Amino acid sequence: MTTTLFTDINSLVTNDLSFEKGLLGEINDAAFIEEAGQIVWVGSGATAPSADRQVSLEGKSVIPGFVDSHAHLVFAGDRALEFEARMSGSSYSAGGIMTTVKATREATDEELDQNIATRAVEMYRGGITTFETKSGYGLDVENELRSLRLAVQHTEDVTFLGAHVVPDEFKGRADAYVDLVKGEMLEACAPYARWVDVFCDEGAFDYDQSKAILQAGIAAGLLPRIHANQLSQSRGVELAIELGCASADHCTHLSAKDIERLAGSNTVATLLPGAEFSTRSDYPDARRLIDAGVTVALATDCNPGSSYTSSMAFCIAVAVREMHFTPEQALWSATLGGAKALRREDVGSIAIGKSADFVVLDAPSFRHIPYRPGVDLVEETFISGTSIYRSNK
Ligand code: NIG
Ligand code: FE
Repeated sequence: MTTTLFTDINSLVTNDLSFEKGLLGEINDAAFIEEAGQIVWVGSGATAPSADRQVSLEGKSVIPGFVDSHAHLVFAGDRALEFEARMSGSSYSAGGIMTTVKATREATDEELDQNIATRAVEMYRGGITTFETKSGYGLDVENELRSLRLAVQHTEDVTFLGAHVVPDEFKGRADAYVDLVKGEMLEACAPYARWVDVFCDEGAFDYDQSKAILQAGIAAGLLPRIHANQLSQSRGVELAIELGCASADHCTHLSAKDIERLAGSNTVATLLPGAEFSTRSDYPDARRLIDAGVTVALATDCNPGSSYTSSMAFCIAVAVREMHFTPEQALWSATLGGAKALRREDVGSIAIGKSADFVVLDAPSFRHIPYRPGVDLVEETFISGTSIYRSNK
C-alpha cells in the first residue's frame, strides 16, 4: 500500500490529547502519514519518517473533517417566504414543517435524491466529511420509507424521524399517529435506519408520546437521539437521559436540573446555532453547559425551515461570537464532539488508526474560521485519504 506524507503544516489540529497543547492537541510545523485511507503516523515535521509520496501543504493548516451530527437533507422546496415573514416579526413554530411535507410528498425520487446530493456537495466544499441525515418530511409510511431509502445512498448515519410533527390528516388524533409511527411505519423504516429521533416539544410530541416512539425504535434495534427543549423547557432532556440517547439536540431552554442531568450522563448536548440565528431566537447557554462538564457538539441542523445552512464554519463563527464558545471549544465540538454525538470512533480526529478525513485550510490556523466569518477558507477536503473537493481559487 502507498504511504503519503502530508508535511509543512503550520498548525495541525489532531484532537489527540497525547499531543502538545490545549484541548485540540494542536501541533505546529506538523506532518502526518496516510495509508489505505487511514492515518498511520502523526507528529512534528522534523521527525517525520519518509513515505512513498510527499505532499507539501506550504504552511497552511489542517483540521479533522467536520462531523455534522444533525441535518435534515431529504426534502423538496424551500421556505424563503416563511423566513422573510419571520424577519418581519412573525415567530417560528413547528407548524411550518407541513409546508415542506407537502412539497416532499409531491417530489419525484430523482428530485429528492438530487437535493440530498446537492446539499452533500455543499457540505464537502465547506469541510464536512461525515454527516447524519433524517427523514421527517414524509410523515406517511410510503414517504418516510422513500426518504430513508434515498438517504442510505448518501450516508451511513440515517435517522428515522417519523415523529417530526403530527401531519394534517391526523389533526386531533395524535395518538393514532403515534401508533402508526411505532407500528407499521417503524417496521417498514427500521431496516434503513441506524437511529430513531422524535421532536419532543411544544407543537410536536409530548414526553409520553416521545417515550413510546423511542422505546419502540430501540426495541426494533435503532439507537435513540432526540430533538429536545428547542421551543420550550419541555421534558425532552429528561427523556434523553432516561433512555440513554446518544445526543439531545437543540437544548435551547434548559433548567438547572437538565444541565445537571446532562453533566452526569453519556448523552451529548448538540447545539445548533443556525436554528437560533435563522429563527431570531435566544441562543442556548453554552457556557453553562461547557463549564458544567457536559459534552457539547455543534451541528448545522440544515433544513428548509429553521436553519437552511450547510456551513459548519458559519455555525462555529456564531457559536464563538454569540454563544461564547472559545475558538478551540467550537472546533472540538464541530469535529470530535460531533463524532461522539454519532457514537463514531473512526472519525473526528487525526490520530493513528482513524479514517483520513481532513481539511486543508488556506489559513495559518483553525482560529481563522471564527475570526474570518463568511470567508471560504477550505482549500481541499479529503475523505479516507481521497481528495473529494479542491478549491480552484
Ligand atoms: O431541528 N425542530 C424540529 N425540526 C427542525 C426544523 C424543521 C423545520 O422547520 O422544517 C429543527 O430545527
Ligand atoms: Fe433538527
